Amino acid sequence: MKIIMLGAPGAGKGTHAKGIVEKYHIPTISTGDILRQNIKEGTELGKRAKGYMDAGELVPDELVCDLVVDRLEKDDCKDGYILDGFPRTIPQAEALTEALKEKGMAIDYALDIEMEDQAIIDRMSGRRVCAKCGATFHTVNIPPKVEGVCDNCGGELQLRDDDQPETVKKRLGVYHEQTAPLIEYYKGQGILHEIDGTLGIEGVAKAIAAVIDK
Ligand code: AP5
Repeated sequence: MKIIMLGAPGAGKGTHAKGIVEKYHIPTISTGDILRQNIKEGTELGKRAKGYMDAGELVPDELVCDLVVDRLEKDDCKDGYILDGFPRTIPQAEALTEALKEKGMAIDYALDIEMEDQAIIDRMSGRRVCAKCGATFHTVNIPPKVEGVCDNCGGELQLRDDDQPETVKKRLGVYHEQTAPLIEYYKGQGILHEIDGTLGIEGVAKAIAAVIDK
């Protein structure tokens, strides 16, 4: 099963990818997480990506396409995977379609988690991410057991660098301009499924299960 999570920044792609992983035991490939890990480790890729990410812009296609296509070659992807945050532009989607086509493969589901911009801006102010293991919480919707402390590893929970309200607005603008056209692209392939992102954690999980358990 090969799944793409589409949706604006903060719509819940990462949160609900985690739910699918737990149920179907396929890996999630999050380009955002891979890039943040590279920044943490100070790699050449991380150094090149940081400026774009802090400014709320997309990292250039050539830095992410090969990275993802190589990752899909790994053994753990043989039964499927979830792509979270990739593709994000039409050239990235075309590169993915081509790379899969060469192997006689294709994506099965493109799940578009839909939310209005203002609801996203309101929600993002409550997101907290563990500085150590990257787990995501929310001050209201998914609160940690102890305020400011990660349930999984005890790490410190922080606001992500790119979650400042002005950067969130910039990211939403970039999303509408460069990523939203993917909705039509995958509609054209007959694999787009629209999910109402305002349903709450359980509601969205159920809506996703209704699509992929069918
Ligand atoms: P990335 O890390 O992919 O960020 P994003 O797409 O902007 O998405 P987010 O991680 O911010 O949000 P999400 O949809 O996963 O929401 P979440 O589940 O956390 O990318 C960051 C940057 O990296 C980009 O801006 C770009 O610069 C670069 N980049 C990455 N990929 C790239 C690519 N392919 N090409 C070029 N550049 C790339 O949920 C948000 C909050 O809401 C959480 O607190 C959560 O607890 C809560 N929540 C989630 N779902 C629900 C729900 N149903 N009900 C209530 N609360 C919920």
